[in-house]
Amino acid sequence: MPDSVADLGTAGTAHLTGHRLTRQDVVDLIRRRRPGWSLESPFYNDEDLYRLDVEAIFGRHWFFVGSEPEIPEPGDYVTVEVGRWSVIVLRDDDGGVRAFHNVCRHRGSRLLSDKGGTVGNLVCPYHHWTYDTTGRLLFAESTGEGFDPSCFSLKQVHLRSISGLLFICLAPDPPEDIAEMAATVEPYLAPHALRDTKVAHQIDITEQGNWKLVMENNRECYHCGGHPELGASLFPTIGYRPEDIGPSRRAAYERFLKIDAEMTEIWEREGLPYRQVDRLIDRPTGFLVERTPLDKAGESMTRDAKAACKRLLGDFAQPRLGRQGLHMQPNNWNHLLGDHVVTFSVLPLTPTTSRLRTTWLVHKDAVEGVDYDVENLVSVWRATNAQDAAFVAEAQIGAASPAYEPGPYSPTESWVENFVTWYLQRLSAHLGA
Ligand code: FES
Ligand SMILES: [Fe+2]
Repeated sequence: MPDSVADLGTAGTAHLTGHRLTRQDVVDLIRRRRPGWSLESPFYNDEDLYRLDVEAIFGRHWFFVGSEPEIPEPGDYVTVEVGRWSVIVLRDDDGGVRAFHNVCRHRGSRLLSDKGGTVGNLVCPYHHWTYDTTGRLLFAESTGEGFDPSCFSLKQVHLRSISGLLFICLAPDPPEDIAEMAATVEPYLAPHALRDTKVAHQIDITEQGNWKLVMENNRECYHCGGHPELGASLFPTIGYRPEDIGPSRRAAYERFLKIDAEMTEIWEREGLPYRQVDRLIDRPTGFLVERTPLDKAGESMTRDAKAACKRLLGDFAQPRLGRQGLHMQPNNWNHLLGDHVVTFSVLPLTPTTSRLRTTWLVHKDAVEGVDYDVENLVSVWRATNAQDAAFVAEAQIGAASPAYEPGPYSPTESWVENFVTWYLQRLSAHLGA
């Protein structure tokens, strides 16, 4: 039985033994983390640390909740559940996007329980207090003398749309560096005209792993040998430093260099920004933006690397434009292609489960069955997500074993190190450590 915090690292059995983590326990866990090595078991299993993650990371930082095409018309909404928070993200009657706490101002009932839909007004199911799409209380029956409806609008949540990608922040004073992030990434995203797209398909899966394991898995391609479908378009050298490329990847690297030079000419000619901006650590709103070439046919992330949608995005005249990537801390990555966009969001559900939502967007005028086939569009990422979910589930089981201890990252896992570093920096800042 662990009788001190020092024993918790490899035991990961805090709650079986009745030990609750204190602030000092967490500070100690952060302090003794070895840079370049994976985290100790409690970070993936402990209930107190999970609650702290939700409060310190999701409660205080901007995170991704979806995109404008998911709520195209006035009254369209999606709900976001994270920890004890429930939030409504809604298109108002004037076409703007707003976010509200999903909590009635009468006695607190949740207003909307579906994951998405359309409303005229927001009517509480309990006693029918009715709010308009700006959150203003329009109607409440049999209220007492002197009742002032203007005092009972829905509580707003901070929201930013960055080229149509939606981010919310639950903190009263959100990190201000989102403005700089937006200014940096918008020139990269804008040519893909995300606001002129529609949802072609969306899939939610429940991963059997802590949200950080899902994110860590996304941040490396050391395991990409396990993704045969993705391998049609993604170079097997992605994430590798030139000096770490062994004989088995040499030919692919030569191919990458040749295609990268070709694509750079295209990007220059088309006026598409492509240089990597890596701001993943040392700031509250961590991000990385870049445009990279795709392998083989090089057009899209499909099984044959050819475009999945004939109607291209924005004003693009040809589909072979590489992959415009945007990776955000703490819960999001996106691939913007010439013919479609794929967005991903991870939300924590429990200490050991997470929801991964994948959304495929095509031009709003593209016609299913004529311009694109949904199966062809989604097939690579559906297969890849299933493979990743299996990797994450096994990692979770392993991280709960008494035998687990942190192991060293490969040099190709530098983005995992960046994710973990950012996470620990933010946790430390929250704890004032
Ligand atoms: S709790 Fe919403 S109307 Fe009563
Ligand atoms: Fe993967």
